[in-house]
Amino acid sequence: NAMLTWQRTAYHFQPAKNWMNDPNGPMLYKGWYHLFYQYNPDSAVWGNITWGHTISKDLIHWFYLPLAMVPDHWYDINGVWTGSATMLSNGSIFVLYTGSTEESVQVQNLAYPANLSDPLLLDWVKYPGNPVIVPPPGIGVKNFRDPTTAWLTPNDNWLITVGSKVNTTGIALVFNTTDFTSYDLIQGVLHAVPGTGMWECVDFYPVATIGGIGLDTSVNGPGIKHVLKASLDDLKKDFYALGTYEEDTNTWTPDNPEEDVGIGLRYDYGKYYASKTFYDQDKKRRILLGWVGETDCNITDLEKGWASVQSIPRVVVFDNKTGSNILQWPVVEVESLRENSLEFDQVVVDAGSVVPFEIGKATQLDITAEFEIEKEVLERTIEADVGYNCTTGGGAAGRGALGPFGLLVIADESLSEQTPVFFYLAKDIDGNINTFFCSDESRSSEANDVFVKQVYGSTVPVLDGETLSMRLLVDHSIIESFAQGGRRVITSRIYPTLAIYSGAKLFLFNNATGINITASLKIWQMNSAFIRPYSEDQ
Ligand code: FRU
Repeated sequence: NAMLTWQRTAYHFQPAKNWMNDPNGPMLYKGWYHLFYQYNPDSAVWGNITWGHTISKDLIHWFYLPLAMVPDHWYDINGVWTGSATMLSNGSIFVLYTGSTEESVQVQNLAYPANLSDPLLLDWVKYPGNPVIVPPPGIGVKNFRDPTTAWLTPNDNWLITVGSKVNTTGIALVFNTTDFTSYDLIQGVLHAVPGTGMWECVDFYPVATIGGIGLDTSVNGPGIKHVLKASLDDLKKDFYALGTYEEDTNTWTPDNPEEDVGIGLRYDYGKYYASKTFYDQDKKRRILLGWVGETDCNITDLEKGWASVQSIPRVVVFDNKTGSNILQWPVVEVESLRENSLEFDQVVVDAGSVVPFEIGKATQLDITAEFEIEKEVLERTIEADVGYNCTTGGGAAGRGALGPFGLLVIADESLSEQTPVFFYLAKDIDGNINTFFCSDESRSSEANDVFVKQVYGSTVPVLDGETLSMRLLVDHSIIESFAQGGRRVITSRIYPTLAIYSGAKLFLFNNATGINITASLKIWQMNSAFIRPYSEDQ
């Protein structure tokens, strides 16, 4: 089936076959980036979870390695679930992961490399004293999972956090250890947010407020904020907030309580979940990986024989211009896949029009686009557009005075299939402009088994004097879209039936009624990455 074959991506990591979910234990060791991942070796749906293993020199080209861990002990026989790695300055590596026991109790287990002189870290030993942490009193045995990377306190203790809930309050519990084998629960919680439900895959790390560099997980002090991220089980969405970590009390306080974890900002407003960061000690950057699942149905996944991809790894920094969000940007290494570039300068797109690009195949692209609108036209427009949001605003087909306008991606010639990624400017009654950044999947597929076709998105901060800009990574069935240098990100999975092979095209569109826009674009064809089994003579 050519249509299903085409859906496999060309430069996003995915296993050769079967089901994948969360990224696990990412680290850079002896020159190799290691990525483990939740993997079902037997089927394209979730189950029998093991740790798949892959390595890369550049986070783009990957070599498959044998499974790192499989369910083979009473304490993980129902699944080797999500976990994280900690690298110590003495060279040792400790992995903590959740095991689902023979009674489906969630416990935390310790594992370590059998041979630290092996850069491939092929063999893993499960600590004979596992489990190392069991659910504490008052915590549900099925609500206790996904330990983080440990951070070191000034008095040489290691701390980790594990997500849970009490009634409907999402919480992050903290445990103390010196040797990674015995742990004490610290009284109280790192943080709790009522109404957010179970917190999966908690992540907790420092960001520098100046300098734009990444920080190792244990760094704290002046000029540092901490990001707390939780994956909300009820919503299947990753939420984060910026705040301050108090070492004495082991608590984290959000900068803005109205944008607390689970009720405020998201890493990605599309299909993206169970993400995790790690510190790249060679390039001094913090890198975010995230699971991008399917939005078609299980039966189709079984037919395809695979499900899920990983996002292109993103560098995370604090946005010191807004002071209120992080920036996410694809690792620079992805640019090594850029082939011939095409530039289109100052293309005028009149209100209500569509402009096609003759760029050959449009299935693997890296696109940067800037949009300008005459300032006085913006100011002159008086139409207020108060209740707008991406989901209810009619998508790219809706028409307002100042939007939508943007790109039509993976579109067929007749435009019956298209995924618009766009800006929409909405004036409030005081004349202030709110900028929305949206991705509209509603016309992305004519297939009759794709039920989830949403219009995703959110507002995006645009500061005085800034141009509207977006970057898109297009790869067959995935579009990762970044607005304003990564202040907001939206990932879409799409299942086109007509806009495939050479039938996939790219267009500019402007569906606003009141403005013409001027667009400047750079478009690169993207080479495929090699993602294949490792062999000695690599
Ligand atoms: C998140 C998650 C984790 C769990 C793992 C199991 O997607 O549910 O909480 O450890 O996946 O595969």
